[in-house]
Amino acid sequence: MDTMTDKVSIVTGAAGGIGTATAQALAEAGSAVLMVDFDEEALAAARDKVTGDKVDVFTADVTDREQVEAYTRYAVDTWGGLDAVILNAGTFGSSYSLMDYPEELFDRVIAINMKGVWYGLRAAVPHLRERGGGSLVITSSTQGLSGYYGSTPYTASKHAVVGIMRNAAVELATEGIRVNTVHPGLTDTTMMGGLHTDANPEDPQAVMDAFAQAPPMARYAQPREIAELMLFLASPASSYCTGGTFVADGGLLAYHGGPRP
Ligand SMILES: NC(=O)c1ccc[n+]([C@@H]2O[C@H](COP(=O)([O-])OP(=O)(O)OC[C@H]3O[C@@H](n4cnc5c(N)ncnc54)[C@H](O)[C@@H]3O)[C@@H](O)[C@H]2O)c1
Repeated sequence: MDTMTDKVSIVTGAAGGIGTATAQALAEAGSAVLMVDFDEEALAAARDKVTGDKVDVFTADVTDREQVEAYTRYAVDTWGGLDAVILNAGTFGSSYSLMDYPEELFDRVIAINMKGVWYGLRAAVPHLRERGGGSLVITSSTQGLSGYYGSTPYTASKHAVVGIMRNAAVELATEGIRVNTVHPGLTDTTMMGGLHTDANPEDPQAVMDAFAQAPPMARYAQPREIAELMLFLASPASSYCTGGTFVADGGLLAYHGGPRP
């Protein structure tokens, strides 16, 4: 269904698994899509995977406020307005315990996952106002609603964007600008691939197979399964949804993690 006909969307972190799948889903639904990432080479490769005429790329680092304003302006100048922004760029950082986490890396994770989202919202809102409304979708994580091992700044930043989302949703509700978070569980992307390799360089597949047993559905999500939720929240199909935390995790958070029968 062409739920995004004549709409203009931006996806950050678009060179990654979830971002590329989201750009594809939006393009298939009729939207013009600006794919944003700081990895220029990976972004060009991702663009080639997405079918659609009104798809363009912009290389930008979401931690640089001027670059965030530049990608937002570029989408508006190219297609005449803005309707939806998927703030999806993110990093896991690395696995260190609470006590050992390097401060520089801590700050970097917070800068990308939290402050980059704030910059993105601030740049987008004036343009959404000009359209009389729109949708902002932030990629959080199951770690935005619960904790995990060895990833303090990741968990902190993914919780923080829930707070940003709730404040923004409340402040913007009467202007028709909706703001929601998506909380993916284990999803088969480069980000998880890095974690598998870190945990066992000789046999990353064994790590993935073990992790896959964690959610009750006993498998990873494919990026498109997360992208479908992004598309729903970006589109007018979710017209009464704002301030919401939308989980797509194969039942992970529903399960308390105890022994199984
Ligand atoms: N894969 C999972 O299991 C999972 C689970 C929960 C949440 N998430 C979240 O989903 C989002 C997308 O991750 P993914 O799984 O597709 O991983 P990915 O590594 O494939 O994609 C992340 C993308 O973000 C880009 N990026 C990182 N820092 C950036 C910056 N400063 N400026 C611009 N771009 C930057 C990377 O270049 C990369 O292309 C992230 O926010 C991640 O935290 C992923």
